[in-house]
Amino acid sequence: MTTLKVKTDSKKYEIHLGHGLVDKISLKSLVGKKEVLLLIDNKVPKPFVKKVENNIKKSSAARIKLLTVNASEKNKNFLYISRIYDFLIKNNFSRDSLIIGIGGGITCDITGFVGSTFLRGIDFLLIPTTLLSQVDASIGGKTGVNHKGFKNMIGTFNQPRKVIIDTSCLKTLPKLEILCGLMEIIKHGVIADSGFFKWIEKNLNQILTLKPQYIQKAVKRSIEIKADVVTKDEKELGLRAILNFGHTFGHALETIGENKLYTHGEAVALGMLAACKLSEISDDFSEKSSERISSLIKKTGINVKLKKKINNKKLIKLMHSDKKSNQGRLKFILLEKIGTAKIKVINNNQVIEKAIKNSLFY
Ligand SMILES: NC(=O)c1ccc[n+]([C@@H]2O[C@H](COP(=O)([O-])OP(=O)(O)OC[C@H]3O[C@@H](n4cnc5c(N)ncnc54)[C@H](O)[C@@H]3O)[C@@H](O)[C@H]2O)c1
Repeated sequence: MTTLKVKTDSKKYEIHLGHGLVDKISLKSLVGKKEVLLLIDNKVPKPFVKKVENNIKKSSAARIKLLTVNASEKNKNFLYISRIYDFLIKNNFSRDSLIIGIGGGITCDITGFVGSTFLRGIDFLLIPTTLLSQVDASIGGKTGVNHKGFKNMIGTFNQPRKVIIDTSCLKTLPKLEILCGLMEIIKHGVIADSGFFKWIEKNLNQILTLKPQYIQKAVKRSIEIKADVVTKDEKELGLRAILNFGHTFGHALETIGENKLYTHGEAVALGMLAACKLSEISDDFSEKSSERISSLIKKTGINVKLKKKINNKKLIKLMHSDKKSNQGRLKFILLEKIGTAKIKVINNNQVIEKAIKNSLFY
């Protein structure tokens, strides 16, 4: 087992990482005599959930209740989560309770949001079960729900008590979901660690086929990079924005596709290609490095073809309406070189349009 310590302004906590960890790790001291709610994504295989449940039963928990979540963006809203509040109230859950979220990013976000708001905040622990949630959604303390079609519009910054990452649960994930997580892993290498990027290039097949030693290294280094950024800027006042590399374009593409046409991973892949091109055009990022990134993304097998004709001007307008756009100024994450990213405001729409045209229309 590997343990990573996260120290933010608001909380210190540990992330434990290992293959087959959920039935080995002791949760006794964390669970104590608490009332425990297991919030479970209904696609997580039952044997995995049983292992977590059996583990908690070894502690002195006052009681353990289970509630399943049907994870979808459509359900990630107040109406759906109000049934979780109802359940907690009906079962007399007190402040001395612990919610354990077992599932992908949607379940992690919901768990964190309910944990942040029920009785003004109770403890929560995350057991992420998708690659994306292991390297991204469970790390950093952002929680949220969608509101009237706007993604993650309502939420909190609130760190969990602990994160337990068991890479053995990834084997039941569809390939597309593996690719979604892999795009975030590649992003972490691109923005912060050229050595890690090179390692991904060399070991792509082993990572894609989830060879334990390789997937664990990929997840561990990814978490270290994200946790390091979050430690320096928990509430995204500055540096944390670099984690949005490729996401400014990506979110706009997701919106154009009404969140159905592209998976998040595909949108981020296309977004990273556009961000590389923009780095080339508006800064001195080398064409050779840009080509390396684009070649790695394509080698993963993810779709990087536009599925619908896009209108550049509409795409830029959508980028302006992203909640991360700042007083009408479009902020982009650009690359100086592989492993070094910076935040830059670009006001010249022609430059942005050129980057989109030269990267996505081929
Ligand atoms: N809080 C953050 O910092 C942060 C960061 C990135 C993404 N997110 C959020 O995370 C969400 C995306 O996360 P995601 O990609 O994990 O999506 P998800 O939670 O929808 O999970 C993807 C699919 O995999 C299924 N699944 C989960 N675990 C499985 C397993 N072990 N085997 C088989 N199937 C399994 C789910 O039921 C779902 O159908 C988005 O809502 C996004 O906003 C949050």
